[in-house]
Amino acid sequence: MSSGSLSEHWNELRQRVDAALEQYLNLPSDCPDRLRESMKYSVAAGGKRLRPLLTLMACEACGGSVEAALPAAAAIEMIHTYSLIHDDLPAMDNDDFRRGLPTNHKQFDEATAILAGDGLLTLAFEVIAQRVQPAQVAASCVLDLANAAGPEGMVGGQMADLQGENSGLESLEQLEAIHLRKTGRLLRSALTMGARIAQADPQTLDSLDHFGKCVGLAFQITDDLLDTTGDATKMGKAVRKDAALGKLTYPGLLGLAESRRRAEQLVDEACRSIAHLGDRGHRLEALARFVLERDH
Ligand code: IPE
Ligand code: IPE
Ligand code: MG
Ligand code: MG
Ligand code: MG
Repeated sequence: MSSGSLSEHWNELRQRVDAALEQYLNLPSDCPDRLRESMKYSVAAGGKRLRPLLTLMACEACGGSVEAALPAAAAIEMIHTYSLIHDDLPAMDNDDFRRGLPTNHKQFDEATAILAGDGLLTLAFEVIAQRVQPAQVAASCVLDLANAAGPEGMVGGQMADLQGENSGLESLEQLEAIHLRKTGRLLRSALTMGARIAQADPQTLDSLDHFGKCVGLAFQITDDLLDTTGDATKMGKAVRKDAALGKLTYPGLLGLAESRRRAEQLVDEACRSIAHLGDRGHRLEALARFVLERDH
């Protein structure tokens, strides 16, 4: 497949995700205007839409349709956006820019930003429960996403990330455990929800789960690398923040070259784990490679 047709496919999927998000965020008048505006502000600001693309591509790779996976794709982007709004709060990473715009609490205020995050988190599950078919698959996606986003997953990872600040911890196992939870779990769930919606067999589900675990960890390693080497304008967020906050990061622990090598190994492992999908896995492999090459 040429890279041209691949980026066309990505753009087409991204547009469909954006349209679904706009539709689901068109909340009725019972939702206070300021809350709706604040939720829309951070979602519409953009971002790479990596997680929803993974959901749609996983579903396609397992023989399912994009249409069927769109609600779950939009839902995971809502959860991710909520996690960014809260991650940027003064009590957490205290950031002023996100997705090229002032962070939600800078544009609105802290209380509104907290509530916008709460709103997106809750709405995500409503969208899945209401729109994913059949009901049994919707229930399995709700469980998958709740487990990934919750205390054993992303929220637990965020807690450990904060506890790790200036803690003097220097163990690779601890760092890996933080990254697997704070970023890896949600990415895994992007893949497994796509596979569930396509009603994939258990072996395929497992292989996509492993693909997601490897890509998720590689993704946070490159995020750490880009904090050290990246450009704030391209990234749409501040860089050189992790060291200042005393964060435990891959480049901080292993250095740039070894961190990059580790991310490459993980992406290779991810691609090997879905080799059995043959041509159907090529788009997912290309997305995994993008994680290494990205500059934003
Ligand atoms: C940033 O995620 C936060 C991490 C989990 C590393 P992304 O780099 O996917 O952010 P957007 O969605 O493109 O803004
Ligand atoms: C954020 O990790 C992970 C989540 C939001 C769950 P970071 O704190 O490194 O993300 P950025 O660098 O602010 O995007
Ligand atoms: Mg953080
Ligand atoms: Mg942060
Ligand atoms: Mg970061």
